Amino acid sequence: MKKNYYITTPIYYPSAKLHLGHAYTTIAGDVLKRYKQLQGYDVFYLTGSDEHGEKIETKAKENGVTPKAYVDEIVAGIKDLWELLDIDYDRFIRTTDVDHEQAVQKIFDRLKENGDIYKGEYEGLYCVSCETYVTPSSAVDGKCPDCGATLETVKEETYFLKCSKYVDQLVAHMEANADFILPESRKNELLNNFIKPGLQDLAVSRTSFKWGIPVKGDEDHVIYVWIDALSNYITALGYLGEDDELFAKYWPADVHLVGKEIIRFHVIYWPIILMALGLELSKQIFAHGWLLMDQDKMSKSKGNVIYPEYLAENYGVDTIRYYLMREVSFGDDGQFTPDTYITRINTDLANDLGNLVNRTISMTNKYFGGTVKSHNVTNEHITWLHDVQTKELASLNANMDKLYFSKALEDLWRLVSATNKFIDLTSPWALAKDESNTELLEAVMYELLKSIEIISTYAKPFMPATAAKIEEQINIEAVTSFETLEVSRETYNVLETVSPIYPRLEKEVEVEKIRAEMQRGMDEAKAKLAKEEEIEFDEFKKVTMKVGKIVSCETHPNANKLLKFQIDLGNETRQIISGLANYYEPSELIGRHVQVVANLKPVKLRGELSEGMLLTTDTADGKIKLIFLDEHEVGAELL
Ligand code: MSP
Repeated sequence: MKKNYYITTPIYYPSAKLHLGHAYTTIAGDVLKRYKQLQGYDVFYLTGSDEHGEKIETKAKENGVTPKAYVDEIVAGIKDLWELLDIDYDRFIRTTDVDHEQAVQKIFDRLKENGDIYKGEYEGLYCVSCETYVTPSSAVDGKCPDCGATLETVKEETYFLKCSKYVDQLVAHMEANADFILPESRKNELLNNFIKPGLQDLAVSRTSFKWGIPVKGDEDHVIYVWIDALSNYITALGYLGEDDELFAKYWPADVHLVGKEIIRFHVIYWPIILMALGLELSKQIFAHGWLLMDQDKMSKSKGNVIYPEYLAENYGVDTIRYYLMREVSFGDDGQFTPDTYITRINTDLANDLGNLVNRTISMTNKYFGGTVKSHNVTNEHITWLHDVQTKELASLNANMDKLYFSKALEDLWRLVSATNKFIDLTSPWALAKDESNTELLEAVMYELLKSIEIISTYAKPFMPATAAKIEEQINIEAVTSFETLEVSRETYNVLETVSPIYPRLEKEVEVEKIRAEMQRGMDEAKAKLAKEEEIEFDEFKKVTMKVGKIVSCETHPNANKLLKFQIDLGNETRQIISGLANYYEPSELIGRHVQVVANLKPVKLRGELSEGMLLTTDTADGKIKLIFLDEHEVGAELL
């Protein structure tokens, strides 16, 4: 009988464009789903988008659209990305889906009725960017410890979730279930830093903005985004909805895959909500690390990102899936570097796997016209290959059980190498010279093809398109279960001509191309950042700019780069110091009209008072030019 398996990813904030780091969690979930399916499980894989909150409300306003219109467009992009990356999810839940919103209201009501949610008043520090309250002790210089944004002090009437009531139960559960939180190191961190020092009740409603699910009967309050978001794991299955068949079938979740920065919500608040609802707790929360670029978390605002679209278009989706799962040990932080990425493609995919498939197919064609059948012949090399298969697959399965994707791929690649070595050990070209060896030669070719079939099937969760291509080249039906590998085929009948599954890349050229693409992304982010620093008109109006006439100009007595000006502003004369000595002769400036910032606080520059600033531009060759306004009246204000 099929067993059920339920996997979730976090639901994503609709930020303008998801990067490779974001794709990491979703790819891992998809790999796990496909692996479990091949094991015979009936899997439900959930992903989605987390669309409410103040940040979205503000962004939408800045863009002049409604929050819903704003998220609709971005969510469409997220779905396109998952399609591109071959993510086979069963539901994409949006927290704006009507069934979700209704169920969340019911969840809130239920907790209120049970006394697990009560009304009170909150005063404290709040991070708008993370949509979370921050305790004074965890704030760093008045800034959010997670994202570094400046914290706001807020005071509002709010509903609270009685976390304190469930602490003992939670700690007992964590201690009794070794696999509840993985990797284990995260568990101790949470227990010691957050739970044991005393968990405060959590503020679970907001009145300071509107874009959220309203509390029924108290519509000034919207439900805190994390309660809304976490509940998706059960509302997606129909919990408290019209049809809860999926909930009955798949809950509790087998694994919630989350990034390490959101583990606190999943390990503390989510179980507390479930306990308060009287539901079974999820079986496991696995916190993976971050994908880094040069030691820094890949993040759009830092501009150190690479987008999956570019890599997929140039190197194929499977290279991304393989690289992320192979290069980054799941649970730890890992790096994306163009160099290791191209090396992995060339070494693991083109050389090791690609060559194995290509050599085997061409030898099968050369020696047997493409068709080989199984024989009862064996020798020490065949036995050795079988032993390697048994050993590596056992290790692979054990590693997959622990979500050690990278180690599982190491096991699989040891089998790839062994199969390549098997060719050298058996030397089919030597066997082909003597007709008495035909049977053994055919057995060797059969074993090679069998090993390739095994490899391609175990590689399938990681690289579905590549596995499909191998199946096509060795001309077998798509394998849908690991079990079928145990039944031997009568024959293999490979295609006559095939192209390499991964052509070798010119490493330096490709690395340069990716670097250039990353630089382009970086420049784009910088330009965006500069744009985001735009100021309101009211702020601009605070600056007074006037046309001034240069009455006198001489070099600064104490600094040879500075000039000392007396400027006539119509009703007064000001002294202004400016760094123009390298660009102008004082005499050529007398009588010229220039643009002056007139209401700057005076400062002393090298002992001389400066009561304003002259506006300049810088030229492409690094020089500085004054802005002349000779045709404008002295003292006129610039508007
Ligand atoms: N909306 C919340 C999750 C709510 S779940 C009930 C959220 N969204 S997110 O869009 O910011 O992040 C989604 C996932 O992407 C998280 O698991 C996060 O850890 C992951 N990543 C974002 N940047 C990442 C890297 N640079 N590297 C690896 N994962 C990263 O959090």
